Amino acid sequence: MLASTRFISITNRIHSGPKNAVSPQADFDSTLGAFRAMKLINPNTDLQKSYVSYIEELGDEERYPYPLDLKHKDFKALVRKLELYSKGLHLPDWLVPNTTFWLVEGNKILGCSHLRHCLNAELEKAGGHIGLGIRPSARGKGLGKILLNATIDKAVKMGIEKIHIHCYADNMQSRRMIESIGAVLESAINLDLPQKTVMRYVHDGSSY
Ligand SMILES: CC(C)(COP(=O)(O)OP(=O)(O)OC[C@H]1O[C@@H](n2cnc3c(N)ncnc32)[C@H](O)[C@@H]1OP(=O)(O)O)[C@@H](O)C(=O)NCCC(=O)NCCS
Repeated sequence: MLASTRFISITNRIHSGPKNAVSPQADFDSTLGAFRAMKLINPNTDLQKSYVSYIEELGDEERYPYPLDLKHKDFKALVRKLELYSKGLHLPDWLVPNTTFWLVEGNKILGCSHLRHCLNAELEKAGGHIGLGIRPSARGKGLGKILLNATIDKAVKMGIEKIHIHCYADNMQSRRMIESIGAVLESAINLDLPQKTVMRYVHDGSSY
């Protein structure tokens, strides 16, 4: 897809949103000023500087989604690895094919999402299709909802009909984000390791 088409697609999502979304435009306008060129892109080597500053901002915080945990010193190798994973190639045993997306504005990476193309039994129980995070300094401005909506859109286009989005019960920001885009709580389950409750939401993608 052309970058300009992606831009229009995200702009439309912000202005109209899927059926169940709270209008993110108001949040966005009031915090970031007029809408600028936000895009959902695949990782590329041009944004290494912004990526490094994103990781630095995260500091000791647990990194979500998991690709942010991969070694990035050899940035070209990281980008290549993510590209291969997206094609289902060179995957370690514990990974299913998955695509990483960056939400960017200009040369700045604002957030990162991760879409699993399918689930195994373990991921269906806890993990789900989508993981995401927003750069700490950009949180609380509606970008999490924008990134989640844009990633669900990708999932729908990939043919995934029942999209699982899971999070820990004590992650209130994440729960609010998931609920406010219209996902429905299917169940809450307790894990032994770590001892945590996982909220298992699903979205049928029908409003996309
Ligand atoms: C979870 C995360 C992605 C949300 O992104 P964000 O850009 O801050 O979220 P948004 O601004 O889009 O807000 C989403 C919802 O959460 C609410 N929210 C935001 N910050 C909150 C907070 N500190 N406490 C409670 N609710 C909060 C917002 O009000 C909004 O709900 P609303 O639509 O009902 O008003 C972001 O906080 C993050 O990156 N956290 C660390 C990584 C992580 O936990 N990822 C999820 C793993 S499952």
